[in-house]
Amino acid sequence: MKDEAFQAQIAAARAYENLFVAGLFQEWAPRVIDFAQIQPGHRVLDVGCGTGILARETVQRIGPTGFVAGLDLNPGMLAVAEQLAPTLEWRQGKAESIPFPDQSFDRVVSQFSLMFFSDRHQAIREMLRVLKPHGRLAVAVWDSLANNPAYACEVGLLERVAGKSAADALRAPFVLGDRNPVVSLFEQAGTDSVTIMTQPGSARFPSIRTMVEADLRGWLPVMDVVLAEAQIQQILSEAEADLNPFIKVDRSIQFETSAHIVTGVKPH
Ligand SMILES: C[S@@+](CC[C@H](N)C(=O)[O-])C[C@H]1O[C@@H](n2cnc3c(N)ncnc32)[C@H](O)[C@@H]1O
Repeated sequence: MKDEAFQAQIAAARAYENLFVAGLFQEWAPRVIDFAQIQPGHRVLDVGCGTGILARETVQRIGPTGFVAGLDLNPGMLAVAEQLAPTLEWRQGKAESIPFPDQSFDRVVSQFSLMFFSDRHQAIREMLRVLKPHGRLAVAVWDSLANNPAYACEVGLLERVAGKSAADALRAPFVLGDRNPVVSLFEQAGTDSVTIMTQPGSARFPSIRTMVEADLRGWLPVMDVVLAEAQIQQILSEAEADLNPFIKVDRSIQFETSAHIVTGVKPH
């Protein structure tokens, strides 16, 4: 990759860590770890680790005899992960072909990444391959948009001002919201004892503008949607009214979220 493109990826990953991890993703890491039943001494893989929040939290639980590795496709995410936690193992690669041998891990965890894998069935098969027999996996995915109302509002705004492709880019994180198909996906890939627990969460961003601008300038281009500056400005000005129910007295924006945590076991 050209140095300029790599530097742009690192800048995007830093913004992701500062805004999205802090405001939205961080609180889920301890929960995923609890559902995975991670214990001191375990070898753990975080698939689609991004800037590494789940791997960093895992280190607190596994102690000095454990081992944690983070896997992600995006070199910029991994560069920031490495800056934040240089002693952990960070690998670039695809969830669909995990670069570790069979039966390398006691636990495989993943949060808010499965929806973006190009072949989800194959990714789960790979998670099972690298697990030891009876090893456990825990995977978090967002609940449906209907149960994440602030994002439903923002999707409506994008559809109104910028059209379907822009709205679909923001719908993408919520495509695994229906519980039954998600359970089937894990079972069909060969997972035993699949459970799914729907959990409430809460998100917080410094202002509506910060949140919506990050989605428009940071997230939509990742999904190949680049809006004209005039559209961005129109969405930002209309967002104040549309997202008004979620504004607090200090002008920050806070809202309830909902996600599923799926667990399962590798058959013997
Ligand atoms: C929304 S982020 C979640 C990151 C992290 N788990 C967190 O909680 O902050 C989704 C991540 O999945 C990664 N990703 C997407 N497709 C992938 C694939 N096929 N294999 C590995 N990682 C992938 C992206 O690069 C991105 O870092």
